[in-house]
Amino acid sequence: MDLPNSLEELKKIVLNCHLCDLSKTRKNVVFGEGDVDTKIMFIGEAPGATEDEMGRPFVGRAGQLLTKMIENVLEIKRDKVYIANIVKCRPPNNRVPTDDEANSCIPYLLKQIEIINPKIIVSLGATSYRYLTNDKTPISKIRGEIVKYKDRILIPTYHPSFLLRNPSKKREAYMDMLKIKSLL
Ligand code: URA
Repeated sequence: MDLPNSLEELKKIVLNCHLCDLSKTRKNVVFGEGDVDTKIMFIGEAPGATEDEMGRPFVGRAGQLLTKMIENVLEIKRDKVYIANIVKCRPPNNRVPTDDEANSCIPYLLKQIEIINPKIIVSLGATSYRYLTNDKTPISKIRGEIVKYKDRILIPTYHPSFLLRNPSKKREAYMDMLKIKSLL
């Protein structure tokens, strides 16, 4: 697929995408949002119900936690980073995206990364890490590591939804955010 090098042109294509069946059940495509001149991109798994309603990434409960991690720990405003997902449309009942869904959608994300050109990519949760790197190391083992990713740094950390279900893991996520802050 030959994708445009302009984010606006890319967004037009993604908003009209019908490559997989998620396009049949979505309310809105969630392209991603933030500062295109940022040094840091956060990448989640797929939109949930609130994101599907609003057409914006990480605006539900997990999003509120992510926003706090960015604003309170990194001490940068959420609109100064870029936030996107592996898959741009909500999987029914928030199930994990299938390989087919992720593989048909990921070229859009890779193009976003190329255009935005961040120094640091933070992958949120196992799905995001796995589809970006093809590495199946469990997130509990790889989190907080500095992983070389093309000419960038990738730091995997827990997904904020996982942290909402497992608050005792917030300390490790906090350490990861401090490491990210020191690299910025
Ligand atoms: N979870 C994700 O992975 N992405 C979102 O945008 C919202 C919740």
